[in-house]
Amino acid sequence: MKLILATSLLSLLTPVQSLNNGLGLSPQMGWASWNDCASQVTSSRIKNATLALINTGLAAKGYEYVNIDEGWLKGRSSNGDITVIDEKFPEGMKALGDFIHDHRLKYGLYTSRGTVQCSTAQYNATGSQDYEVQDANWLVSQGMDYLKEDSCGGGPNNPTDAFTDYATMRDALNATGRSVFFSLCGWYTWYAPSGDSLGNSWRISGDGTNWGALTQSINANVELGKYARPGAWNDPDLLVGTGIGSNRGEDKCFDGDTEIPQSSDWYMTNDEQSRAQFTMWCIMSSPLIISANLNQVSEYALETWGNEEAIAVNQHFRTYPEGTSVEDEIYQGIRIFGDDMEYDKSTDKGSGVNVWAKPLEEGKWALVFLNNEDEVGDVTCDSECFEQLYDLDAGVKYTVRDLWEHEDEEEELVADEEGKFEYTAEGLARTGGVKMILLTPVD
Ligand code: GLA
Repeated sequence: MKLILATSLLSLLTPVQSLNNGLGLSPQMGWASWNDCASQVTSSRIKNATLALINTGLAAKGYEYVNIDEGWLKGRSSNGDITVIDEKFPEGMKALGDFIHDHRLKYGLYTSRGTVQCSTAQYNATGSQDYEVQDANWLVSQGMDYLKEDSCGGGPNNPTDAFTDYATMRDALNATGRSVFFSLCGWYTWYAPSGDSLGNSWRISGDGTNWGALTQSINANVELGKYARPGAWNDPDLLVGTGIGSNRGEDKCFDGDTEIPQSSDWYMTNDEQSRAQFTMWCIMSSPLIISANLNQVSEYALETWGNEEAIAVNQHFRTYPEGTSVEDEIYQGIRIFGDDMEYDKSTDKGSGVNVWAKPLEEGKWALVFLNNEDEVGDVTCDSECFEQLYDLDAGVKYTVRDLWEHEDEEEELVADEEGKFEYTAEGLARTGGVKMILLTPVD
């Protein structure tokens, strides 16, 4: 009795620390400027990106946020309000937000915790440290629907400082009364256990600019699935495509047809890797934020990001009966076979094979088979691998739908006499060959 009283008293005294904005019930989808233009972003480029999202058909498929990353914010006026780089955003941020809203899309803006932002020292761009309330109000007055808060000027990068800063911004956003998606950008896996109390998503790794970095993000995500849930997602970074619109040089954009020499870092070496990233982001319930010039990416990249069957795997999940313990509620795919993958971009050598699975509605499961070895090869999920699909029923047949070929395979998946399942994805390309299937129980 005493204990119960003490607990309920405590819960009265401790306010619930959460963002509570009702957003991100599925992983967020949209576009961000960073891998397109870095700090050279301008309002006309953002308008072009907005139109391109619509013209490519991607907006209609759910890509709804247009997020301006670093490069628009200049400093502070004498009263402390944010000021904007006028030459690049002559009509101001509110008008740009109105343009995006007029096109039925949502408006994302960027700041950093700490005193300065990441790479715009040339503009003296300020961070939000000690200005959280003023910044949140100002940003909301411009029509902001989404805030990415980076960590560059945040001083020591440790949980104590970082969580204090992010909680301050979270509370400032809450106090504005507008629902703003809050995207934390702090690059470490230690954000995940506290992520859902601070924001709607949190970066778990460094910048994912090529397949080498992205395999590290996938490896990092293996242990973090239990922290993902509606309203709160692990973020392994932006979607990288292929084509000149996805291969920016250092701190440069694409102008017209100008091809910028590929930088040593910002690229995918082949189409497979870009598709492998997207496929993995779908099964991992990761944010689907494209970052590239949509007018100059390859057709293959557009087709990849536009695959509605794959998007459905990302956006959907099983619903669990009330009373299910948090540990048993799986919203992000789990690795059911394989070890960490590596890829060295200087030698074009890779290693590792993975099989991942995500439970979906009505007893369905999505599975991804990924070959990251140097040779074309088969990837098998054997009976031990299948045992982790906790409710697969040996008495039931499953149709197997290939979500890249968009067709059902001739053979259904059935258990053998001992009630065991096995499936092999054959002939997957080297260093990023992928297959995604959907298993649906047949009544
Ligand atoms: C960091 C972030 C990137 C991007 C840049 C901007 O590197 O991780 O996503 O926002 O800063 O400078």
